Amino acid sequence: MQARPIAGEPSPPPARLEWGTYPGIGPGAELLGRALRGRRILELGCGDGRNAAHLAGRHHAQVTAIDLIDLQTQHALEQYGLLPGLTFLTCDAMRYLRQTSTVFDIVYSIFGAVGLVDPRLLLTAIALRLRPHGILAFSIPHPQRAGTAAASGAQPRHSPLHLPDGSRRLVARWELDAAGWRRALAQADMRITAATELGHPGRDRPTALVITARRN
Ligand SMILES: C[S@@+](CC[C@H](N)C(=O)[O-])C[C@H]1O[C@@H](n2cnc3c(N)ncnc32)[C@H](O)[C@@H]1O
Repeated sequence: MQARPIAGEPSPPPARLEWGTYPGIGPGAELLGRALRGRRILELGCGDGRNAAHLAGRHHAQVTAIDLIDLQTQHALEQYGLLPGLTFLTCDAMRYLRQTSTVFDIVYSIFGAVGLVDPRLLLTAIALRLRPHGILAFSIPHPQRAGTAAASGAQPRHSPLHLPDGSRRLVARWELDAAGWRRALAQADMRITAATELGHPGRDRPTALVITARRN
């Protein structure tokens, strides 16, 4: 499951961590805490690895970044595989959380596994691998971005996920609003600390919801 670095010069890590799809909008890595050097951080659904590279390369955190799709971790490795403190793994989030013995200071997901896996299962699995008072932060597409109501806790919606090869896959999404995430987090021994809506120039409605929480 561990993807191997490819020889060559790593790309420079991005200057900013982005929680939304539009760069430069909203908070950056400070949502994860001010002092990230040496922190054990897990990203669930890292895609091309740019945000994990930011945390390892610019903040000197110890980052494990996983993604279900091999194409994604291979692309991440080509870009950032030789950065110190950064490990890419091809693995399903639930599978990884159930088999690892590592306790993390911070877990995060940016349009990644949180929201794409049943929160009743995933949040509990995350809490078990977070240290007490450790941080969970995640962004999801805003549940009201298209004028629709938020989903209930149990029922996902189905919508397309765009893959790097240009294909699309229909996936289940749990698009709760902040109150829904508050309840789901509380059931998993975590408490919500902030909910931030991100906008997009030219759009009336918010496009992303960023939630931060702490383990009790
Ligand atoms: C929309 S992309 C976002 C990627 C990246 N976080 C970013 O902001 O560019 C969602 C990613 O989550 C990954 N993913 C979805 N479900 C997952 C799961 N259960 N375990 C691990 N990764 C998952 C997908 O393979 C995909 O690369």
